Formats: sequence, structure tokens, C-alpha cells
Amino acid sequence: MRLADSSAIDARRRLRPPGIAFGGDYNPEQWPEEVWAEDVALMKEAGVSLVTAGIFSWAKVEPRPGEYDFGWFDRVMDHLAGAGVAVCLATMTASPPPWLSRLHPGILPETADGRRMWPGGRQHYCPSSRVYREHAVRLVERLANRYADHPALEMWHIGNEYGCHTPMCWCDESAADFRRWLAERYGDVEALNDAWSTAFWAQRYDSFDEVLPPRLAPTFPNPAQQLDFARFSDDALLQCYLAEKEVLRRITPDVPVTTNFIGVHKPVDAFRWAAEEDVVSVDVYQDPHDDSTHIAAGFIFDVTRSARAGQPWMLMEQAPSAVNWRDRNGPKPPGRMRLWSWQAVAQGADAVLYFQWRQSRGGAEKYHSAMVPHGGTDTRIFREVSELGHELGSVPEIAGTRSTAEVALVLDWNSWWALELDSHPSTALNQMEIALAHYRPLFEDGIACDVVPPDRDLSGYRLVVVPNLYLLKEPDAERLTAFVRGGGHLLVSFFSGIVDECDRVHLGGYPAPLREVLGLRVEEFWPLAENETVDIRHADGTVGRADLWSEAVVPEGAQAVADFGCGPLAGQPAVTRHSFGEGSAWYVATRLAPEAMRALTQDVCRAASAGPLLPGLPEHVQATVREGDAGRFLFLLNHGRDAAEIQLPEPMTDALTQGATPTDRLTLPAAGVAVLVEP
Ligand code: GLA
Repeated sequence: MRLADSSAIDARRRLRPPGIAFGGDYNPEQWPEEVWAEDVALMKEAGVSLVTAGIFSWAKVEPRPGEYDFGWFDRVMDHLAGAGVAVCLATMTASPPPWLSRLHPGILPETADGRRMWPGGRQHYCPSSRVYREHAVRLVERLANRYADHPALEMWHIGNEYGCHTPMCWCDESAADFRRWLAERYGDVEALNDAWSTAFWAQRYDSFDEVLPPRLAPTFPNPAQQLDFARFSDDALLQCYLAEKEVLRRITPDVPVTTNFIGVHKPVDAFRWAAEEDVVSVDVYQDPHDDSTHIAAGFIFDVTRSARAGQPWMLMEQAPSAVNWRDRNGPKPPGRMRLWSWQAVAQGADAVLYFQWRQSRGGAEKYHSAMVPHGGTDTRIFREVSELGHELGSVPEIAGTRSTAEVALVLDWNSWWALELDSHPSTALNQMEIALAHYRPLFEDGIACDVVPPDRDLSGYRLVVVPNLYLLKEPDAERLTAFVRGGGHLLVSFFSGIVDECDRVHLGGYPAPLREVLGLRVEEFWPLAENETVDIRHADGTVGRADLWSEAVVPEGAQAVADFGCGPLAGQPAVTRHSFGEGSAWYVATRLAPEAMRALTQDVCRAASAGPLLPGLPEHVQATVREGDAGRFLFLLNHGRDAAEIQLPEPMTDALTQGATPTDRLTLPAAGVAVLVEP
């Protein structure tokens, strides 16, 4: 078993050739059996090597409690194996069958105001429901035993998009599970009282039996209770996943397991979950109506790659063209699906899969694009899909290679949950917006970036960017301080280092655990009104803009890089720099407008000697490198609307247009992709 190595997704590859896996969700139960033979024939035509099957098959394989009908699914697996298509087999537990909630209505989830969520959609189960988990595990046991030795089985796909529709449940069973979880975390109720600051508003508990989830209350529920409920809810979902994984490990120890994350999703702490997976996989739906969709996707790809420290990962779902779930669902213009698929590979993916193989005829997703559209194979979508399948198949040597970065951006789910609680100086702070505001200039300037939790080893980085790390544990603050003392560079944005893990303010002047390294103290928070902006004046006379937030900063060793140019904080520092130990630490006490953020990030990167991979690239061209035993691959992707002229550092060959002579200049058309190798 080679689950932990760089080619973990190859760990049990039996059918498909080495290389980037290509395929999608396969839902054969939506079609009569006659269609299946055509499906596999078309899969071969399209270069499909891996499908993820059975995600929504529970009601068909277990039509009545304890009565199984796997015959039809055997035939699906045999068809696929016969065609050499490998299967990432779903555990089928994402959508319970109607009989389960009819017999056991207690499995249905409840909202914070006590409303029951009924079946009829999907994911209608309470994550803490013992009955749900028992039935799920029973099914998984059957599945694992049945298909353990099937030649098509390559890996397991546990559940599907945990926490997508039902990330939390407030029912009585969840309440009991929450109490159990709290008793384990705190040991005795006085420790809970202390952690939750229950002396406030007469909230003291005399026993765990009195504790409830944060249900609808007349006013703000206790923030530490809300924070623990976010932790608990993430954990309840993880327990569902682990219960299934335990069965799979026991019966099929050499088959890798994964579960597909929904992009970077607030309820599910990807860093914690990734440790429980053999391969990380993610679903990313770029929005053709959004010009910077590839930057948001780039962030998700970097989180996904970093979740298991650079190990290749899987793009488990993307749309071949339009989705059905936005208000307006634009198709992907010609070439963009190819570009965005290659973007995933350029950022470390070893699998490019779609939702879904054949476009549904009925049901809620019939207008969601698929690899085989309603119109069949004589369609733009099928042609683009097939071309990409063969193109990816032509460069198998990319699989298993990795990338490195000199910059890390810190993301922490606990802090995210705490930052966005109510009753704060401003409820307009949004963790993803701030993280992306810091990520964007790095992406635009072609600076490779990992996204890491605050307890990751930072010693390999030159620059660490910390957007809104509101909740900060002392040891993590010490790690950041030591990083700078030892010569690292740090960029921290406002409202960071404010509370401990129980959402209690770190006393000693904000942001107490970061004061030493930042060389300053924040005396007062000064959030701005909606649509209010302030000027930021730099020493050289340039003026930028900022909005959302400001703070009264008192330097204690830090130098002002820019001041507020107007408003009540006029003349006080807005951006500071502190030389500390062998390194330096910047602080941004407001939300800079994108141009000002880009200029600051460039200054900070320059000071940290963290440069772009290819200096002087045209705007909108993304460059990444993956390397390994098979060589060094330079990916160039033109996200712009115009062709771009690119000067290479030395003559190179494009692996996608094999046979071409090496060149040091190339013209990349709009949406163009090149994968360059040194000759
Ligand atoms: C999610 C789900 C799929 C499908 C797609 C549609 O990613 O996992 O089952 O619903 O969305 O975009």
C-alpha cells in the first residue's frame, strides 16, 4: 500500500493507465439498462478513465430495510471493468431512502427554530442520528464485502459533499450528542462555565443536562456556545465519515478513501478532515459570469493542495458547462472549461472529473450540464470534453509531480467561525472576502502560495500572510513571532489576535499575543459605515483608498508606512512595518482597496525576496510549476480575453503540441494553455 506517497490516487490503480484521471459522476440508475453499454462505449471515446459511481443509489440497492438488490449494480461495475474504466465507488449514503425516514422520523434534521427538514430533496439526515449512522454503516459493510475484489474498484468516495445542505442540526438527539461532546471536552461543568463566560447574563449551568445547542433565542446566544456548536457540528459530520471509513479500512485496507469537499466550505474544516483521507478531493464550480472566478478557484485549489502538504489531489466535480443552481447560469464559453480544468492540474490536481456523465432527463438537475448533454455527442460540450480527455491522457508524466511555494497564507476554521459571530464591532467582516483580498495580488503577480493552518511548520516560507486571524491561540502566536524573529516576513491584517479559543479577549492591549512582533497596540476599533471610504496617505505622497474597518493604532516600535488621510483617525497609522529580530512584520489596520493591497503586497514580497515564478508575465496569465522525477513542467494559462505574448527564460517545448521545436517566445491565445518542458 502506498497511500501516503505522492501518487496516492494511483495506490490501487489496476485498470486505468498511469496519468491524470479523467471522468465524472456516473448515475446509471437514472437510465434504462440499454443505455449503459452506450455509456461505456462513449466513455472510451471521451478518454474517460475513472468514474465515481453510486452516489445516490441507496434507495435502489436497498429498496426495503435490510433487503438488498445489488444485481444491477454488479452489472454496472462489470460493464465499467470490461471497458477498462476504474471506479471511485461511492458509499451511497448521501441521500437516505424514503423508507428510512418513514420508519424513523427521528433521523430528520431540525433547524435552530425547531422546524423539521423533510425528505424530498437530499441530505435529509441529522448528522448525530444513531439510526442514520447504523443504517449507513450496515450498507457500507455490504458494499465493501461485495466489491472488495472487483477489478473496477480503485478507491472509495465516502458520503458526498458533507455539510452541503445540512451542516448543523438542532434536534433533541443533536442536543444530547452536543452535551456528550462538551462533557468530553471540558470534563466538568465548571470548566464549561468558565470557557463560555456564563457569569454573563446569568447563564451559569449547574449540570451538563441543562445545556442546549444555540437554538433560536430572544437575543444573541452565547458566542462561545455558538463557537463550540460549530466545532461540534463539524465533528458530528466527521464522525459519520469516520464510521464509514472504519468499515472500509477493515474490509479493504489497500483501497484509498476520499470525500469531496465543497470548495472551501465554512462548516467543514478541510485541514482537520484531510488528515483522515488518503487523497483530498474537492468540487469547484467556476462561474462564467464572474471575471475573477479563476482567482477564487485558485484559492480553493491552493487550500486543497496544502491540506495534505502538497500531495496531488482530485478535482472531483466541476461542470462541463453551465450549472443549474445559480440565479443565472451561464455556459462556459469555448475553451474555458479546458482552461479551468488545466488550472486545477497546474495547481496540483491529478484528477479532472465532472458532475456528471450523462445529463439527467428529469429531477432538479436536468438543466445542469453534463459530459453527454441532452443533445448527445454531436455537441460542442461532448467535443470539448473528449478533446480534453485525450489531451490530459497524452501527458501522463505530470501525475505525481508537486509544487513548492515561498509564501503561505494562514486560514483557520476556528477563527473563521469566531470572526463571523454576531454582536461584534461590525458584522460585515467576511473571512473569505478578506482571505481573497490578500490572495488576489499574489495570484495576479504569479507568486506561488500555500494556504495553511496556523499550527503548520512555517520554517520553509519567506513570507506568511495572515488575513483576519481573529481567534489566535498563544502557541500559534508564539510560532508567528518566532518565525519573524528568525528572519521571516509577516503581513497581518486588522482584527487579528483578538480572542482565545473560547472567544475570550486576550487582555493586555489588542492584539495582545501579536503586540511584540507587530510592535504596536490597537487602542480602539473603528469600523466604517456601509459605503464609507477613507484615504490612505503614503510617505511618498501617494493616496490610496480603504473601507470597511479602521483602528486606532499606537506604534510601539513599528514605523508607519501609511496614515489615514481623513476622518477621525486622520494622521494615525493605517499600515505599519516593524523590524523584529531578523525579519519584519507589517500590519494593515483597514481594508485596502485592491490597487493599494496589490502595491502593499508587492512591497512586502520584495522585502521578503518572494518573487514571481516568471517575472514580467502579461496581466491575466497564470504561471505555475510542478516538478518531480518525470521532470519540470511550467504551466501557462491565459485567463484574459486577448492573446498574450510571452517571453520564456530559455527555449522550451510545449508538451501539448508535441513535436514543436523549442522556442523562447510564445503567443498564448485567449483561454490558451501551454505545458512547457525543458528540451
Ligand atoms: C454538488 C453535488 C452533485 C451535484 C452538483 C451540481 O457538487 O455533489 O451531486 O448536485 O453539486 O453542481
